Parts: sequence; structure tokens; C-alpha cells
Amino acid sequence: MRNLSTQRYVVANWKMNLPPLPIVDFIASLPSVPSSDSTKLILAPPFPFINEVITAASNAASSIEVAGQNCSEKENGPLTGEVSASMLMRAGATYVIIGHSERRALFREGDDIVAEKIAACWRSGPVPILCIGEPIEVRDEGDVRGYLEKQIQSSVPSSEAGSLLVAYEPVWAIGSGRNASASMIAEAVGWIRSSLDKDAGRGRSPVIYGGSVTAENVDELQSDGGIDGFLVGGASLDPKALSVIYHSTAGRTLPDSGIARFRQK
Ligand code: PGA
Repeated sequence: MRNLSTQRYVVANWKMNLPPLPIVDFIASLPSVPSSDSTKLILAPPFPFINEVITAASNAASSIEVAGQNCSEKENGPLTGEVSASMLMRAGATYVIIGHSERRALFREGDDIVAEKIAACWRSGPVPILCIGEPIEVRDEGDVRGYLEKQIQSSVPSSEAGSLLVAYEPVWAIGSGRNASASMIAEAVGWIRSSLDKDAGRGRSPVIYGGSVTAENVDELQSDGGIDGFLVGGASLDPKALSVIYHSTAGRTLPDSGIARFRQK
């Protein structure tokens, strides 16, 4: 099992999009990540581009890692269009996003399937990045804690062992331009940690936040502490924004020519 708890994470979820410049140029304009860096930069491109990202990162001598955006709960078989966790691992993806709210809503994936996918990752090697988060009705009605606890109880297999990254992504914040506040994030992350500890014995799993993270709000979002990084959608297709988010997560500022200029644009 990998010890993930001492690191910070920026996961770039491209969804079914490509950046507006060639992948090799995109990677070349990101900060080069040394293998010893305690802040990981993980890109999640569509499946056919995993190899291109890995090759470009290796040519740039950067220890960027790669995630799949989903995997099958099965190992192999007559499942046209599906990709297994072990196939992703073989292609070089060391993480897999599981249970993203778009998969839950558009592809009807429930907690039971999510739990099977996490178990499949644990059998085959890639670290699952479990996405959980409440819809707007639950945020308005006020039982966010109960909702998150139930998602954890029913989607983290308790009988098996493996490393896990959890992404707190309120559904209403994803792609909406409406991010959660720093205090909402810190509160939810506290609930998630205690539930992971109590229900799944996984209190040391890193917890990251996702939902309309940008270069402009990244400092503010982590100002109440408690989070271990970010899952970034739309802004991750812009290498300048992604660089600012990465450096902010790592607690660094870009050199003069970097962060100040990026922020003015
Ligand atoms: P967003 O997406 O940053 O565009 O809101 C986040 C996600 O879907 O993981």
C-alpha cells in the first residue's frame, strides 16, 4: 500500500476535452516536477492520450503522473467500450478517478458500483481517487454531513486494503463557476476525515477539493487549512492556470515572470 499522507496533490481532470495546444507544448509550459517533490501533479487525459502525456512528461524530465478518468469494475470480458484498472496500470496510469459526479449522474453509477471499482483498483495497482459530494438540495436542507458519511460508508470497501485519495466535490460547484467557501471546505473535510477514520479505518487518506477551482481562487480556497490539494476541471486545460494552482498548492510562488503575470491576464 502506498503511503499517500505526506504529500499534496493537484489532479487535472480534462474530462472529454483536450487543451487548446499540442500536449507536448502543454507539458513543456508546466512547471517541471522533480520526483522528490512532495506536491504531486497528476494529469487525467482521455484514455487514448495517456501515452502521449507520459511520453511528453518524460521528455520534459518531469515526474508528472497520470490518472484514468474511470475504469470498469471487472478485470476483462465481453464489455465493449470498457477499460479495466489493470489495463490502465499497464498503460502507465497510476491513479484512477472513481465515482465522479458526471459518471454518477450521466452513467447512473451508484455507490455499489463505485465500491466495486475501488476494489478493482486495489487488486490491480492504480490508486483510486474517490469523488464524493452533496447536491444543492442537500446543501440547502443542511444534512451535508450525513450525506457524505453515507457515501463513504457505502462506497469504500471495508474488507479490503489499499491506498485511497478522496476528492470532496460538491455537485453544485462542479463546472458552475460557484465554488464552495473555504469554511465549507474545511468543515466538510473534517467530517470526511472522521468518517474515513471511524467507518473505513482510513483517517490518513488525503482529502482534496474540487469544484470551480481557478488560479484566482486557489489561495482563498485553502485558507482555512485541512485540505491536501485540488481536483481541477475547466482550469486544468489552461497551462498557466494549472501552473498557478500547482504552485499555490505546493505553498510556493512562481518566479517573477510567472505568477504575477499569469494572474494579471
Ligand atoms: P471544474 O470541474 O473545476 O470545472 O468545476 C471539477 C471536476 O469536475 O472535477
